[in-house]
Amino acid sequence: MKQRPLGRTGRVVSEIGFGCMGMSEFYGPSDQSENFSTLGAALDAGVNFFDTADTYGHGANEELVGRFARTVGRHRVCVATKFGIVREPGKIERRIDTSPAYVKAACNASLKRLGLDHIDLYYAHRLNPDVPIEDTVGAMADLVQAGKVRALGLSEVSPATLRRAHAVHPITAVQSELSLAERTPEDEILPLCWELSITFVAYSPLGRALLTGRDVAAEALDVTDYRRFLPRFIGNAATANVRLAAKLKAIAEEKGATPAQIAIAWLLASFPHVVPIPGTRKAVRARENAGASDVRLTRDDLERLDGLFPIGAATGDRYTEAGFIGVNV
Ligand SMILES: NC(=O)c1ccc[n+]([C@@H]2O[C@H](COP(=O)([O-])OP(=O)(O)OC[C@H]3O[C@@H](n4cnc5c(N)ncnc54)[C@H](OP(=O)(O)O)[C@@H]3O)[C@@H](O)[C@H]2O)c1
Repeated sequence: MKQRPLGRTGRVVSEIGFGCMGMSEFYGPSDQSENFSTLGAALDAGVNFFDTADTYGHGANEELVGRFARTVGRHRVCVATKFGIVREPGKIERRIDTSPAYVKAACNASLKRLGLDHIDLYYAHRLNPDVPIEDTVGAMADLVQAGKVRALGLSEVSPATLRRAHAVHPITAVQSELSLAERTPEDEILPLCWELSITFVAYSPLGRALLTGRDVAAEALDVTDYRRFLPRFIGNAATANVRLAAKLKAIAEEKGATPAQIAIAWLLASFPHVVPIPGTRKAVRARENAGASDVRLTRDDLERLDGLFPIGAATGDRYTEAGFIGVNV
């Protein structure tokens, strides 16, 4: 697996990372021992950059990732986690807390759940507009000073706030949704990350499975699946989006790859500072996704994909109104 720089840290990570969220929540039930094997399959395939957050499964996801890191060897994995989304157990409703006192308490709680003495990359998951970014990043910088955190990140941050944050302490990574189905970051934040040598970590790079060719219309999903509430997966929007995603199939067949691999390879070939973090509960899919590193897209392939999936091509919003709270602050 080829590596990409992690901001200006001097560290590199596998050009395809792994998103662990779906192993604990959001996309239906999962099996804990299968999850562990899947993480192992990703590592064996060369993936060394694992993404979690304190809110995923209300801490369960951090426990899983920490156990995995301790089992395979801490030095073999780069562990990224996040703070700032506060929910009651079992509830989707959230508030955003990025106050300095909360940042410090959240970090200690994450370290405890992970069972690790440091976090490699610590993100603010969402931002509270009432807390100055300088205060939040100042508190995050204190964690670096204390040796609890190696590098800082921001998720779904606006360009203006990113500049202010970066002036307080170097920001190593920005994490936002980016895929053939969601290309909005290309307007401003992607070029800004390039300018500032910040790694852009592309979450939901498979459009939450839309780009894999699977039927993900709401009615086909498990009753506990969070996508049943997302506008893109409901009714006419779902039908239009499944039809849009089907356009990947022909290109995938021509390239001897799968639609998921083409979606990941498009990110890698289009943006040198992007690291996609696809997520899956299945070992076979973890290997498939990592295999996108070997898929070569030509200039013609990229032009064709850009034409088939222009900015704004997906129908419906990517989140509900409540889901946009703390986004682009
Ligand atoms: N910062 C944020 O606010 C934020 C928000 C969302 C996600 N994230 C991070 O980004 C990571 C990835 O995003 P995501 O999980 O939302 O979306 P994703 O990676 O775009 O898609 C995940 C979905 O695709 C399916 N899938 C994965 N590989 C597949 C393949 N090769 N063939 C068929 N189906 C496949 C998975 O199902 P199976 O499990 O059944 O394979 C799952 O339902 C998350 O795990 C999380 O760490 C961050």
